[in-house]
Amino acid sequence: MLFWIIVISLLIFIGLILYWQLIVAEGAYLGAPLVALLYDWTAERYNKIKDFEPEAEDFWVGEPLAQRLRHQPQATILDVATGTGRIPLDLLRQPSFRGRVIGLDRASKMLDVARRDLAAHTDRVSLVQADAMALPFASGSFPTVTCMEALEFLPNPTGGLAELIRVLQPASPKQSQGGWLLTTQRIGWEARLMPGKTWNQDQLLKILSCFPLQRIEIQIWQDIYNLVWAQKVEGCLADKFNLDK
Ligand SMILES: C[S@@+](CC[C@H](N)C(=O)[O-])C[C@H]1O[C@@H](n2cnc3c(N)ncnc32)[C@H](O)[C@@H]1O
Repeated sequence: MLFWIIVISLLIFIGLILYWQLIVAEGAYLGAPLVALLYDWTAERYNKIKDFEPEAEDFWVGEPLAQRLRHQPQATILDVATGTGRIPLDLLRQPSFRGRVIGLDRASKMLDVARRDLAAHTDRVSLVQADAMALPFASGSFPTVTCMEALEFLPNPTGGLAELIRVLQPASPKQSQGGWLLTTQRIGWEARLMPGKTWNQDQLLKILSCFPLQRIEIQIWQDIYNLVWAQKVEGCLADKFNLDK
């Protein structure tokens, strides 16, 4: 009897660990290749699971981005961890935006879905398979960089954030245009099950204050994510994180 109690307890324990690591944390503690593999497996179901509502996407994401890009309507922006192309689709729906979007992701099958859904916009979208921790772009390349619902899955979320900010152009000092970062903060009970991968509001503000950023705004958005806006100013990232390339 005792034997079976031990075996069943052990199986429950292993099941809980697997649920935590593979379902809640989506492989985040087990390395970027596994995270990408799990997303490849769910790629065809991803849009159905997320059930993006175009009106809500426009209100929270597409329109605010287009508004911030109104002085640079022809800009090329970078969307890191683009997945199935949510940000490119949100932005290309905005009539005032006439620029291009580069969507980058590690998971090839997520990019395949994005390629299919963005087939009508091939002249305005490029999809790149690469790792968010080592973006294949020079520092200061983009007037806007986005990264939605992904930082917590990176091997080092603070390093990932630094990498986003590295490739971001600082705002022009005179008109304070450009230099916009849009990302997300994981919140809710699942965030508490991802120690070292998520930040509470105080931790996030402290980390963001280490970077050359101004106009930092954390907006309450969904049950499991807040939106984070910030604008890069001239400054040196390497001082604090030694991430200069
Ligand atoms: C929850 S999805 C978010 C996708 C999209 N940004 C959205 O909001 O729908 C997380 C994405 O991050 C990507 N990802 C995870 N780790 C990555 C890494 N190290 N480099 C690049 N992409 C990564 C996954 O492949 C997946 O497409």
